[in-house]
Amino acid sequence: MTILITGARGKVGRAVLDRLHTAGHAVRAASKNPADLRVPADVEAVELVLNDPGTFESALRGVSQVFLYPEPEGIDEFLRTAEAAGVKHIVLLSSSAVLSPDAENNGLARPSVLVERALAASNLTATVLRPDAFAANALAWSHVIRRKLPVQLAYPEASVAPIHSDDIADIAVEAFTGDTLTGQTVVLTGAQSLTFREQLAIISGLLGRDITVEHITRAEAERQLVQHVPVEVATSLLDYWAVAADGPAPVADTTDTTDTLLGVPARTFEQWARENLAAF
Ligand SMILES: NC(=O)c1ccc[n+]([C@@H]2O[C@H](COP(=O)([O-])OP(=O)(O)OC[C@H]3O[C@@H](n4cnc5c(N)ncnc54)[C@H](OP(=O)(O)O)[C@@H]3O)[C@@H](O)[C@H]2O)c1
Repeated sequence: MTILITGARGKVGRAVLDRLHTAGHAVRAASKNPADLRVPADVEAVELVLNDPGTFESALRGVSQVFLYPEPEGIDEFLRTAEAAGVKHIVLLSSSAVLSPDAENNGLARPSVLVERALAASNLTATVLRPDAFAANALAWSHVIRRKLPVQLAYPEASVAPIHSDDIADIAVEAFTGDTLTGQTVVLTGAQSLTFREQLAIISGLLGRDITVEHITRAEAERQLVQHVPVEVATSLLDYWAVAADGPAPVADTTDTTDTLLGVPARTFEQWARENLAAF
């Protein structure tokens, strides 16, 4: 039976697809624009727009499991169509933001909260992956680093335990193909708590040149962020970083990593930075 991968253009979705395909599982890649997806020749690419129910039935035909990106609009209809098509198990790419206070009204968390709730109300088995900050978030600094400008941060001492998207993909694959994770809800991080300043020092060391960090006000950071994300997401990000500046990020004791779940060391931020150094 086929595993449907939504978000197949995304960093995590694509890595899940590649792993399952290489291991010989039948996979189908879903996208709003399937013609633009570059997938192996024997992988079918289908149109799936998670807020357009007209695209659900054909994408779900013959599917037993789904890797799901959290789009709340249309989710009840999507899950009903999935059950009718014979889907048994969904692995959701949720977010640790669902654990924040008042998560339903938090711009970062709300889509994941609503999709988790819909899944819990369905008859499907759900494995819920709640990653914390992605290592790839550092790409937000790449433009100014390339131009040798200072990186402006309201909370340079905010600590996160960045997770490599390949770690999330490895854990998702275990949920699809193994028997230790299916049906669980897990909060995922990398293995090492690092401040933003420490992450930038790692990138600086690999580049062999200094990166200046400039402390800016929250109001200035918000003014910059809203040029890229909706204001409620900007507010939630700044609230998250303000709390994260209070001390090291929780790692391993209250979160899971590839080490605790799969018995293999978590990829480090330095590894991610090496792999993506060309962006900087
Ligand atoms: N960045 C973090 O620190 C962090 C932390 C925790 C959780 N997350 C979660 O991770 C996800 C982003 O993962 P990523 O970085 O792998 O993704 P990404 O690189 O931003 O790609 C997004 C993917 O999602 C698909 N998508 C978006 N809206 C869709 C819709 N309405 N219908 C169908 N597909 C849709 C896109 O598919 P198309 O091909 O159709 O465009 C694309 O493939 C988000 O849900 C975010 O909440 C992120």
